Amino acid sequence: MLAGRKILLGLTGGIAAYKGAELCRLLVRKEAQVKVVMTQNARAFITPLTLQTLSGFKVYTETFEADSYQVGHVSLARWAEALVVAPATANVIGKMANGIADDLLTTLFLARGQIPVLLAPAMNDEMYREEIVRDNLKALRLRGIRMVDPNSGQLACGTFGVGRMAEPGEILAALAALLKEGRDLAGLKVLVTAGPTREALDPVRYFSNRSSGKMGFALARAARDRGAEVCLVSGPTALEAPGGISFLGVETAAQMMEAVLREAPGMDIIIKAAAVADYRPLKPAEDKIKKDSSSLTVTLARNPDILAALGRQKPAGQVLVGFAAETRDLLENAAKKLAAKNLDLIAANDVSRGDIGFDRDENALTLLYPGGEREEVPLLSKEAAAHRLLDAIAKIKNRP
Ligand code: PMT
Repeated sequence: MLAGRKILLGLTGGIAAYKGAELCRLLVRKEAQVKVVMTQNARAFITPLTLQTLSGFKVYTETFEADSYQVGHVSLARWAEALVVAPATANVIGKMANGIADDLLTTLFLARGQIPVLLAPAMNDEMYREEIVRDNLKALRLRGIRMVDPNSGQLACGTFGVGRMAEPGEILAALAALLKEGRDLAGLKVLVTAGPTREALDPVRYFSNRSSGKMGFALARAARDRGAEVCLVSGPTALEAPGGISFLGVETAAQMMEAVLREAPGMDIIIKAAAVADYRPLKPAEDKIKKDSSSLTVTLARNPDILAALGRQKPAGQVLVGFAAETRDLLENAAKKLAAKNLDLIAANDVSRGDIGFDRDENALTLLYPGGEREEVPLLSKEAAAHRLLDAIAKIKNRP
């Protein structure tokens, strides 16, 4: 997996920089091509000469250094297939999370384009627990940046706690997995739905639900990063439309149905993460409803089931994936939906739990297959959970 791959290795200023050198050695032993970028602080711990000797390439330290007459950060970013920063200090994590580019490494991070990034945080345990650092790590995760979490143990400052950089072997394995994910969906068209729908009660009010769109957006970004051509159909959310994706914003279940059924025939994979309203007010009021009576009765009409319609018209070879958001009898209900809607896979989501599901940054899923097999996706960021689900979908797609 690593032989011949072009890896940019960033070293920042922490005692774990010596492990960064070991990581360089392991990568070279696996026949990867490694170009090293060192911050000024990293050079206080270990010399560029060490890394040059280990990598066999010149070590980069300055933003405005010419490289074969090309601007350094742009040409290096274009050369690389992945960027690994080990160790990644709280300082560099903070800069990356906030778009600050005041040295070669952070500038390269901004100029990275579509290449995957893996960070191996390393710092004192107090710093690692600090809310600002947690927020920065979360912001990066939400942007698809992968982490190899630090281990607990004795830290350079003499205390025990979480903050020791992961071992070079662990980082190597995480990088190999990341590259393997690589572009396994290249050439495939993927349709993802996300968010809630809104069903008008009158011109200013609507029925809706708590879906934030985070799960569906994470799936769309992950599929894009794995090389797919992605179309994201989303109900109203506070999220920014991801770059490199064809985005169709809708409001009602009827509009989502129309957009999805129009796009569906050309799709290789369809993933329905949207929380579509099952009912809509039968006759939305033309004017704002006045509060002139003590109660209000609204008649609701059933909305069409988009996923069931897709299941009925599924072309050969298309992989159709649904979610089941349940507050009780999770697996039984999910299994029923899997069969009734003619799905290839359903992700059962226990939304009775407060820590996952609707409007949370993390999720945990049970994947159910038509043959009765099950697979657990443990509590993970929605980004990581999205990749696990795509791993399962890619396996179905690759079945002979
Ligand atoms: O958006 P987030 O805040 O990140 O939250 C994520 C999530 C909880 C919304 C997501 O993980 C999830 O579980 N999505 C499915 C929500 C849902 O509506 O589940 P359901 O069990 O009611 O529907 C089953 C499946 O049928 C779903 O794939 C749904 O998209 C689809 N459906 C449902 C009703 C309908 N009229 N048309 C549909 O296509």
